[in-house]
Amino acid sequence: MTDTTSLPQTNAAFIELEDRVAAHNYSPLPVVVAEAEGVWVTDVEGNRYLDALAGYSALNFGHRHPDLVAAAKAQLDRSTLTSRAFHNDQLGPFCRDLAELVGKDQILPMNTGAEAVETAIKLARKWGYRVKGVEQGKAHIIVMDGNFHGRTTTIISFSDDPEAHDDYGPYTPGFTAVPYGDLAAIESAITDDTVAVLVEPIQGEQGVQIPKEGFLPGLRELCTDRNVLMIADEIQSGLGRTGTTLACGYEGVEADIYTLGKALGGGIVPVSAVAANEDVMGVITPGTHGSTFGGNPLAAAVGHAVVKMLQTGEPQQRAADLEATFRDGLEALIGKGVDSVRVRGLWAGIDIDPALMSGKDACKGLAKKGVLAKDTHGSTIRLAPPLTITEEELRQVIDALAAVLSEASDS
Ligand SMILES: Cc1ncc(COP(=O)(O)O)c(C=O)c1O
Repeated sequence: MTDTTSLPQTNAAFIELEDRVAAHNYSPLPVVVAEAEGVWVTDVEGNRYLDALAGYSALNFGHRHPDLVAAAKAQLDRSTLTSRAFHNDQLGPFCRDLAELVGKDQILPMNTGAEAVETAIKLARKWGYRVKGVEQGKAHIIVMDGNFHGRTTTIISFSDDPEAHDDYGPYTPGFTAVPYGDLAAIESAITDDTVAVLVEPIQGEQGVQIPKEGFLPGLRELCTDRNVLMIADEIQSGLGRTGTTLACGYEGVEADIYTLGKALGGGIVPVSAVAANEDVMGVITPGTHGSTFGGNPLAAAVGHAVVKMLQTGEPQQRAADLEATFRDGLEALIGKGVDSVRVRGLWAGIDIDPALMSGKDACKGLAKKGVLAKDTHGSTIRLAPPLTITEEELRQVIDALAAVLSEASDS
């Protein structure tokens, strides 16, 4: 019998255990987090790290933000799950305020980001059949090369990342991929059966790729002209990360459908949502879509607390205010081990000189200096610290990266 009373004591022992009994669908850095508060996490051996990844933006407000923990605790003492077979007193107020925050009429709550994207795809297809008049079975959606929208079988069907895509077929038809940011390519891919264009306003997993100015407004115009829904996946880019509530807002663009997730759960519970106006959301009728956990009172209470924080505009303002420090600090590393950087708000993609080191090695070096970050696509690293980070802590992150690069150059 396994002795379940004795727990490992060291990072190495926890990693060895996990390696044996948990599936190997990730390749984490060798840090075993035991406790976390604000921008800081502590491992099982008492080492502290500044979390500059923030759960890929799921921790926009830092770990265990007191307002969010208080909302969760209060709700734990009231009710946690009702299923949607009954109403609960948290869902309506949450949806009302989230809808207002993102400028839409209605919210469809789900749990994970991938579920929100699936929901948006279903919504667009149904809108296509019921409103646009597309022939059954023909609805067509345009997606971007380099996209990342989650891990379900339909979503990975249109992913061009072999790791996400390969060996999971047969794949879901009905999608055409075009180069990210290429309006002409989108225009020529639109047919009479096209119901939507699905786009990340900034491609996070691809290394914080920011489309050239004018792309999103141009896409908005094109979608309106051709009676096609614009779906903005704001799961990683939204809710303050880029200095505005939504990344689309940077260029004043309003999509027809937003998918939201990650930060909406305050780093406490998975909460995702689709936001749209009544003319689109109205095609969803009882029994045609749902989720046991979507809109549960605990999730709605935490999501509502997140919305209240964003209603103040403070998290967005912090991200906007710190952008210059972030950009200047990172741009100063160009030519010193960094090839290029892309920054919007408190979100950065940094291309490390591949001749110097890989992104993974850069992240390992950062961890040794007490900063947690994540590599993507070989030599790129992504920084997305909590929006609660101070300017001094942000400089610490940049200094740590500078030190890792200069040590690698010297060796
Ligand atoms: C833009 C975008 N969409 C969707 C998802 C999927 O979210 P989840 O992992 O919660 O399913 C992600 C996750 O990284 C994402 O970045």
